[in-house]
Amino acid sequence: MKGVILAGGLGTRLMPCTKVTNKHLLPVYNKPMIYYPLMTMVKAGLKDIMIVTGGNNAGDFLRLLGNGREFGLKDISYTYQEGEGGIADALRLAENFAEGDKIFVMLGDNIIEDDISEEVAIFEKQEKGARIFLKEVPDPQRFGVAEIRDGKVVNIEEKPKNPKTNYAVCGLYMYDSDVFDIIRTLKPSARGELEITDVNNEYIRRGTMSYTILKGWWTDAGTFESLFRASKLVAEKEGFKLS
Ligand code: G1P
Repeated sequence: MKGVILAGGLGTRLMPCTKVTNKHLLPVYNKPMIYYPLMTMVKAGLKDIMIVTGGNNAGDFLRLLGNGREFGLKDISYTYQEGEGGIADALRLAENFAEGDKIFVMLGDNIIEDDISEEVAIFEKQEKGARIFLKEVPDPQRFGVAEIRDGKVVNIEEKPKNPKTNYAVCGLYMYDSDVFDIIRTLKPSARGELEITDVNNEYIRRGTMSYTILKGWWTDAGTFESLFRASKLVAEKEGFKLS
């Protein structure tokens, strides 16, 4: 399985900090944000990893991460997203890199506490399908929200006004190689983007979607509140106490 980290976007919710840099290069406690999804993937045993980025600061990723030696990697692949087509649009740039293999996708502003080596190993063995990761949150309307019936995810709604459950769909996804054909069938949503939620709903429709509920904490870091929370969670995990 190959890893894909999506680190494009304008980061408008973090203006003015994102005026001169990419959101994923901002600090979360004592490291740039992009380090965390990268460390999650390396810990889970992935060796082939691609960063999809864009905008004016794309070159800074190369300067920061180089060939990944600091993370125990032999090299890192990079590609460039032109424009702002959404998460699924960014993902399609990884098709050549995937070479028909399964992929583990992480949004570059998502940070998790869990080690997900076991899920990676299980998914490597399974023949086809997809897997999403869920976490109960107090503010589900900010996320994709999963509706679960009889132990199965039956639908995902993107940022619903009246969420049916508290289960947010985290920005971690495992897909078989069908994902690229599915992306080709998508139409832009009301916000003009190709939505990852539409990809996931197609796997649900095909009956090949499974899920894991994360045990440890999960957070995104794309707003000032969540960026602050992310720093706090990481700092606490590393034993830092503010006196
Ligand atoms: C995206 C996805 C959403 C998911 C979230 C996780 O939202 O569209 O389904 O729950 O990431 O961070 P965004 O925050 O990029 O709008």
